[in-house]
Amino acid sequence: MEKEKHSHDHGHNDFTDYTAAVKAYRESFASKEDVLNHAPDPAVREMVKYMDEQGVENCFDRFDKQKPHCTFGLAGVCCRICSLGPCKITERSPRGTCGADADLIVARNLVRAAAGGVAAHGARAREVMLTLKKAAAGEVDLPIVGKGEVKSIAAAFGLSTKGKSVEELANEIADILLEDMSRTVPGPHKTLNAVATPERKSTWEKLGLLPVGSYHEVFEALHQTTVGTQGDWRKAMDQFMRLGITFFMNSVVGGSIASDCLYGTPKRATVKANLGALKPDTVNIAIHGHAPMLATKVIEAARSEKFVKMAEEFGAKGIQCYGICCSGLSALYRLGGVIPLSNANGSELVLATGALDLWLADIQEAFPGIMNVAECYKTVVVTTTESNRLPKAEHIGYRRDLEDLDTLPELADKIVTQAIESFANRRDVKRQIPPHAMEAEVGFSLETLDAHYGCMERVASAVINGQIMGIVNLAGCTNTRVVHERAIVDIVDILLKNNILVFTNGCASFPMAKLGYCSKKDLSKCGERLQIFLNNELPPVWHFGGCIDNAHAVATFREIAGYAGHQMKDMPFAEVTPEWSSEKGVGAALAFRMLGFDSYHCVHAPVQGSKKVHDFLYGGTRDLMGSCMKVDTDPKKVAEMIIADFAEARSNLCWR
Ligand code: SF4
Ligand code: FE2
Repeated sequence: MEKEKHSHDHGHNDFTDYTAAVKAYRESFASKEDVLNHAPDPAVREMVKYMDEQGVENCFDRFDKQKPHCTFGLAGVCCRICSLGPCKITERSPRGTCGADADLIVARNLVRAAAGGVAAHGARAREVMLTLKKAAAGEVDLPIVGKGEVKSIAAAFGLSTKGKSVEELANEIADILLEDMSRTVPGPHKTLNAVATPERKSTWEKLGLLPVGSYHEVFEALHQTTVGTQGDWRKAMDQFMRLGITFFMNSVVGGSIASDCLYGTPKRATVKANLGALKPDTVNIAIHGHAPMLATKVIEAARSEKFVKMAEEFGAKGIQCYGICCSGLSALYRLGGVIPLSNANGSELVLATGALDLWLADIQEAFPGIMNVAECYKTVVVTTTESNRLPKAEHIGYRRDLEDLDTLPELADKIVTQAIESFANRRDVKRQIPPHAMEAEVGFSLETLDAHYGCMERVASAVINGQIMGIVNLAGCTNTRVVHERAIVDIVDILLKNNILVFTNGCASFPMAKLGYCSKKDLSKCGERLQIFLNNELPPVWHFGGCIDNAHAVATFREIAGYAGHQMKDMPFAEVTPEWSSEKGVGAALAFRMLGFDSYHCVHAPVQGSKKVHDFLYGGTRDLMGSCMKVDTDPKKVAEMIIADFAEARSNLCWR
């Protein structure tokens, strides 16, 4: 009897030839030359040119030196999970040593990226939850500012409030948030139960996707994706989706609730944004990262009479704080007066202005590359946590067990003193300040919008009657693969002209704030109907703050959908992260898809090496979640997709 051949006939060789797709994708990558010529922000173009003349390297130089980028990495088929490898999938070797095929390797890599995103936002959220608990217990001298938020969250969690002080309730809320995050014994997820719509909850439940909590799901993600464990790419994608839910419920919403209780909800304010707002004669402190605790104290100290006087004695005209990335944004809408300068990828350009005396780097997106530029321009960099140390930086931080949070005011005093001394030591450093700045209105949230409109009914009717054709949440990082901030601006220009309203937060919100999109001065950027709706009262792009303020954006979407009488998944709503790059970016877009929003991008996920995972993400999830991921490297095509998809959603709802 002829021996049966078990080689190619049992689905073992469904190799996806990714080489042409990866090559074409790689060829679309931007260069520093493109940034110099085509970045939409003149301050960015001028600073890249200036750094070039000065011979100081930045991320655009380093990206060019990385070319050509690794084919296997881009396709997602490089596996380094065990030391039988590293393995790469090619036509000649369609399986790794353990037998994993491209589908499994691509899926496992995605799961691990999403787990990284959950952990990153989650670690930040945990610190704020713990701070809330310590503040409630009186262990640290921090007032509970968001008294109204404490009461409404207590009601949403079903806590009995009778006879309890705000502090007691805040303590109970902190316990619930921490328990939901770190649960080991499966039980009800109280944050999810309070926040998810019944439709979403039942969709997730039917698919077996309800998460235990973020600690467990990250733990399980790492477990499942280790060698010789999960062998089914589709089951790995279930864990991916679970991570999306826990990303939103624990890392984003949990963190946002804790921040709002502790520091209060956002307030609207108008500021000047961009490098032209840098003051040449004040002590200048940049606030960079994502953790509000020390950043807030530093801003308060910088405004105190004691330090303003000290700065004047050193010849400065006061002390000014600036925002880089997200801690700057959240401090701005809570405390006002913080000038937004740049997202994370632009940090080196900010340092090269020579105008910063001290750079406070807390957690996440404080790239190691900033140190070289800081050294060139004699800027003191201060790190504040053990999770985010930078060699050669000063470290003035709290302990990793947070047992010394009561010393925050002393740490802040030390940091501001250093900034003033640095000002005195840096008088010889040349300031190169590009003269570009625009007015920006910040601090949008459901609360501030309710205060403006009474409730969201007015916005919902505008969506129904077509004054607003749809609403996108514009967020995410920037990415050197595309021309810095160009994709963001190009997409928004087309959307606004087509009467699509834009919410924004996080790194993508910087070009909006810097280039006048968050100001009501220039409503001609919008189509006629959107202009009528905005009525010279509000700007075309509504700025919701830092990346975790996705929570506030979603609360607003949910309210609008409620007044319109439909599920969010059926509304003309979308998540747009044109230039996403970090693992948190994977998590954020995924979280929105789990909520039923399509997500749109100009940057590919590393899935070109697996047709199955590619098709699942870019279409297959629609039947499960009512949403999927859509990518085109051309921003105009992305905008056209959104417009067409909103037209279809409107026609399904019988709206013109
Ligand atoms: Fe190779 Fe499998 Fe080890 Fe990955 S887990 S490195 S595919 S042997
Ligand atoms: Fe951020």
